[in-house]
Amino acid sequence: MPTSGLFSRNLKKTFPIAVRGEGCWIVDESGRRLLDAAGQAAVLSIGHGVAEIGNAMAQQSGQLAFAHTSQFHTEPAEKLAARLLALAPPNFRNGGRVYFTSGGSEATETAIKLVRQYQVETGQPERYRVVSRRQSYHGSTLGAMAVSGNVARRAPYVPLIPEWGHIAPCFCYHCPFEKTFPDCGLACAEDLETFVREHQTETAAAFIFEPLVGATLGAAVPPEGYAKRIAEICRKHGILLVADEVMTGMGRTGKPFAVQHWGIEPDIILVGKGVASGYAPLGGVLASAHVVEAIGGGSGAFMHGFTYQAHPVCTTAGNAVLDYLETHKLFERVDSAGKNLRQALVPLEKHPHIGEIRGMGLLFGVEFLKDKAAREPFMKSDNTAEKMRQAAMDEGVLTYPTQGCVDGHRGDHLLLAPPFTISEEECKLVGSALAAALRKVFPS
Ligand SMILES: Cc1ncc(COP(=O)(O)O)c(C=O)c1O
Repeated sequence: MPTSGLFSRNLKKTFPIAVRGEGCWIVDESGRRLLDAAGQAAVLSIGHGVAEIGNAMAQQSGQLAFAHTSQFHTEPAEKLAARLLALAPPNFRNGGRVYFTSGGSEATETAIKLVRQYQVETGQPERYRVVSRRQSYHGSTLGAMAVSGNVARRAPYVPLIPEWGHIAPCFCYHCPFEKTFPDCGLACAEDLETFVREHQTETAAAFIFEPLVGATLGAAVPPEGYAKRIAEICRKHGILLVADEVMTGMGRTGKPFAVQHWGIEPDIILVGKGVASGYAPLGGVLASAHVVEAIGGGSGAFMHGFTYQAHPVCTTAGNAVLDYLETHKLFERVDSAGKNLRQALVPLEKHPHIGEIRGMGLLFGVEFLKDKAAREPFMKSDNTAEKMRQAAMDEGVLTYPTQGCVDGHRGDHLLLAPPFTISEEECKLVGSALAAALRKVFPS
C-alpha cells in the first residue's frame, strides 16, 4: 500500500500531487500539465489560478475571518445572498433567503430539514417523506444518501438509511419503461403521481430532483415537458419542489439555473460546486419567498445550524467568483464554448462503442456501450469508464468517470464539465485525446 497520511478515496491507489492550476490546466509535481476537461467534478467555472479570488479572500480574512451566525451577519454573506436571489426565478426575488453551507451535501441536508419544518409550521406534521428518483445523487451525508438513488454509493449504508420513496429516473436513452418520447406520455413524470397515490399523498413533504442528472446518468437531459409536469404534480399535491442545482447551477448549462430552461419555479434551489468555483468550500439553499414566510410567520427559528454556515471568507470567494463571471461575461460564454466542445466530440459518435454523447451548455456525458445497436452496456467488471479515464489522462486530459448509469450497476460514462473559459483549441484537444483513448481501450 502506498504510504500517505491522507485517508484517500481509494487506499489502493496512488494519487499524483497537484501543485498549480492555470486556466483549464492542472500541473502536477512532476511538471506534467493536464487539461481539466471535467472541471475536477464540475466544480471549476472560472478556471484555475485566478489570483483576484484569493486576494479578496485574504483581504476578508485579514479584516474579519469569522463571525458566528448566532450573533452576527456579515457583509459578504448578505451581498452574495442578494446576488444569488437576483439570478434565481421570480418567486425567489421578493422575500427569498439563502442559507449558506460548506458544500452540496450540507445543502441537501438543510433542504430536507427545511421542507420538514415548513410542513410542520404550516400545520401538516404528517408530511415527512422527501421523495426522490432512482439513479440520482444528492450528497454523501445520511439524509442526502436517503434521497439519492445511486446504487453503488448507497450500498454499504443501506441499513442506516431511511426509505422515503424513489420514483423512476428520467432517462430517455435507457428508458426504464422501455418507451420512446413523446409517445411515452412522460411516464417517468407520471410515476410521481402514481407514487403519491399509492403512498398517501399526505405523508409527502417534498420531491427533490437534479434538473439534468449529473454524475449518476452522465448529463441526462429531460425531454420537453418533464420539468413542467413534475412541478404541476407537486403543486397539485402540496409537495414542495426542490431542484438540486449543485452541479447544474451557477451557469453550467447556459442559464444561471437549469430550471430556467423550462420556466419552472421550484420552492427551493440548492447550489454548491460552481458557486465558489472551487476557491472555497461553499454551498447554499435558496428558499423561495413563501417557504421563508412559513417559517418567519410561524416559529421564526429554523431548527438547524452549522458553525461554518455563511462563512465570511467563503462567501467573499463566492462574490469574487460572481464578479469574475460577470466582468468576463462567462455566463454568456457557456453556450458557444459548449458548441465548440460538442463539435469536437461529434467525430467520436461514429465509434462502435460510443452510445450517446449528451448534455447541455458545458455539461456533457459520453456513454460507452458494448453493443451499440442493442444499447447493451459493458459488464461492470470490464471497468470501461475507469479504463477510458486512465487512457484519456495518459493523453493529458482529465475526465470524471462513473459506472451504473443503465441500472445502477452496469453502464459506463465519462462526464465532461470544463471551466467556462475553455478555448476552441482546448476543446479540440479534448476530442483528440478521447479519440486516442478509444483506440487504446478498444484496439480493433
Ligand atoms: C447534484 C449533486 N448534489 C449534491 C452533491 C454533493 O455535493 P458535495 O460533494 O459538495 O457535498 C453533488 C456532488 O457531486 C451533486 O452532484
